[in-house]
Amino acid sequence: MTTDVYRPKFHFTPLSNWMNDPNGLVYFEGEYHLFYQYHPYGMTWGPMHWGHAVSKDLVSWEHLPIALEPDEHGQIFSGSAVVDWHDTTGFFGGKAGLVAIFTHHDQDPGSERVRERQSLAYSEDSGRTWTKYSGNPVLADSRFPDFRDPKVFWHGPTSQWILILASGQTVSIYHSTNLKDWSFASQFGEGEGAHIGVWECPDLFELPVDGDPSRTKWVMLVSIGNSPEYVEGSRTQYFVGQFDGTTFKNDDEPEAVRWLDAGRDNYAGVSWSDIPGQDGRRIYIGWMSNWKYANLTPTEGWRSAMTLPRTLELASRGDQTILIQKPIAELQRLKEDGYVFENVEVEPGTQLLSTFALSSFQLEVEFELQTASEFGFKLHMSESSETVVGYVPAKQEVFVDRSRSGNTGFHADFPGRHAVQVLPQHGRIKLNVWVDACSVEVFAGEGEAVITDLLFPQEGQSGIEVYAVQGTAKLVSLRLSQVASK
Ligand code: FRU
Repeated sequence: MTTDVYRPKFHFTPLSNWMNDPNGLVYFEGEYHLFYQYHPYGMTWGPMHWGHAVSKDLVSWEHLPIALEPDEHGQIFSGSAVVDWHDTTGFFGGKAGLVAIFTHHDQDPGSERVRERQSLAYSEDSGRTWTKYSGNPVLADSRFPDFRDPKVFWHGPTSQWILILASGQTVSIYHSTNLKDWSFASQFGEGEGAHIGVWECPDLFELPVDGDPSRTKWVMLVSIGNSPEYVEGSRTQYFVGQFDGTTFKNDDEPEAVRWLDAGRDNYAGVSWSDIPGQDGRRIYIGWMSNWKYANLTPTEGWRSAMTLPRTLELASRGDQTILIQKPIAELQRLKEDGYVFENVEVEPGTQLLSTFALSSFQLEVEFELQTASEFGFKLHMSESSETVVGYVPAKQEVFVDRSRSGNTGFHADFPGRHAVQVLPQHGRIKLNVWVDACSVEVFAGEGEAVITDLLFPQEGQSGIEVYAVQGTAKLVSLRLSQVASK
């Protein structure tokens, strides 16, 4: 079987070879830029370059030549990009231009250790060609061998650039007025949140709460690297709090942990910089894989996709402020034939979607809880396999079970069931499910819980079924849409 059956239709993938983290996400002159950690000569992680693509709508991507290649300072690890609107760097002769801020990773000649330092590159032609700054590197700190993944943004109230990066199992924050000279501002993370691996790829941004611009909070994303003893592998946590331009203060008790995604395959995600104010969205994309098995996934010729781009919002739920994720509205235009079902009583033996055999589709459903102890969908069904997306009322839990999802044998920790608590609203539960060749993304409720998982069904496993166990569940509405290529 040719494994290009796993090539997603509406998710970003590299044309060939290995990809990991999204990098340099920036919007400029009508284009969204997506750079990414790229090994152009192999199917596994190797000397890191920045691959590059642009899009007008975050859905259709144009692949561009490699933007940054390793040099005398080392490999090009993750980082960000900004528009230097007022030429604070002096790179652009008074005009606006793009600046990438990334990690140079090499071996410290004076010791056995690796060395990670931050550097700049700039582009005067909308990202088509890049010049590395002659003064590189611009930020180093020999206390931390892991000192990487700078995310930079302009902080209006204090009129300066802010840089946040991962430093061991903390993040460090720096200030600058020209992107070249950085001064230390603060460190966050000691004793806060989860510390089950090295911290990576932080992001920090402000969002209105419940859409009210007069009430804002700051969100910090922190990815946590793979530790062999944790079955979850690499995953992303987030903090909600206050940021005054110097210090981030967590609203939660220090030991509280919030996960961005309850699935296994959403890592190293960050948000786009410079999306115009009138749009106002904070748009996020993650790498849809997991360091536990990323080098082993069964695709041929290319490896790894990005998640769907998602908007991030803050909403009150009781006395908590939580992050809400929604697939971007631009994806709606890819939806084709829709099949709608309403008010169907689902019970053991119900046959509803069994005539469909699709590999890229979206399901939007609302169930009313009745007597069933579990209900939902089976995807990629055959006699011997299925992926289950379901709800267990007694546990108030949405789950994806990929234990028998097809090709699961490439890593012992790949098969499994991933669950997250979601409270029913007025006795109902809503699921927005996007399936694309080798992935499923489940947005539950209004987007307050998400499960992102890779799946590798064998050829011929494409049945869909709505199911209920030990009783009934009412399908209030279901819309099944085929999703076209981007
Ligand atoms: C996260 C990460 C980053 C690093 C990059 C290297 O997945 O480990 O911390 O910059 O990947 O490719």
